Amino acid sequence: MPNIIKLDEVDSTNSYMKAHLSKLCDGDVVTARLQTAGRGRLGHEWAADEGMLPLSILLKNPPERENITARVGLAVCEALKELGEISAFIKWPNDIIIGSRKVCGILCESAAFGDNFCVIVGIGVNVSQTAEFFENAKLPNAASLLMLTGKAPERETLTEKIAERVKLRAAASFAECYDEYKPRVINLGRQVRIISTKGEKLAEAVDISESGFLVCRDESGTFEVSSGEVSIRGANGYF
Ligand code: BTN
Repeated sequence: MPNIIKLDEVDSTNSYMKAHLSKLCDGDVVTARLQTAGRGRLGHEWAADEGMLPLSILLKNPPERENITARVGLAVCEALKELGEISAFIKWPNDIIIGSRKVCGILCESAAFGDNFCVIVGIGVNVSQTAEFFENAKLPNAASLLMLTGKAPERETLTEKIAERVKLRAAASFAECYDEYKPRVINLGRQVRIISTKGEKLAEAVDISESGFLVCRDESGTFEVSSGEVSIRGANGYF
């Protein structure tokens, strides 16, 4: 069983974990009833009420530093499958999708502590928010597990299951996860809009490279996209 630190209210479980690194061990989990200033990818805010389950998992000196977000995405899909026979997919690089809606986002942040290289794996699961919450937050592509499956998993059980799967996948290499990861990537075979600070580009997402890049094709040829600073959207919608 992972060591789970349960907070009542916190600004961000990732920030809390970063501030308490010296007291935390590999595999420790921080969760909260309510996260008030959650952070998302690319500097976005991560809006939440009590229906969102925030969790941060500490990986100290993981054996492979690359593609942790990909392996965590796979781990979340596996946890949802095991808990409720829920089929979830990955919108590359870090969104977990059920049907056509985002139910979970992943924000992995690195931090140094002494000689340790740490990764703080931040996971926000939309467990039981209502449609009204997403409407008010202007998040038309998001939904909760309750809205999509009619059931909200018990938060502690979900936390334990995700932490267990993340630990297993973080111990394995990306190469070992590849065959199970790739079929989960929902963008493959679709037209995508690659959005970066330089602008937007339309292409077809065709593959995931051995290094975890999204391989795309347009009239000028095949090229690889790194998750660093891009957002991926569908040509005409969310994915
Ligand atoms: C995204 O989709 O942009 C990533 C969202 C990640 C949100 C989680 S909630 C728990 C952890 N604490 C944070 O402040 N962010 C992550």
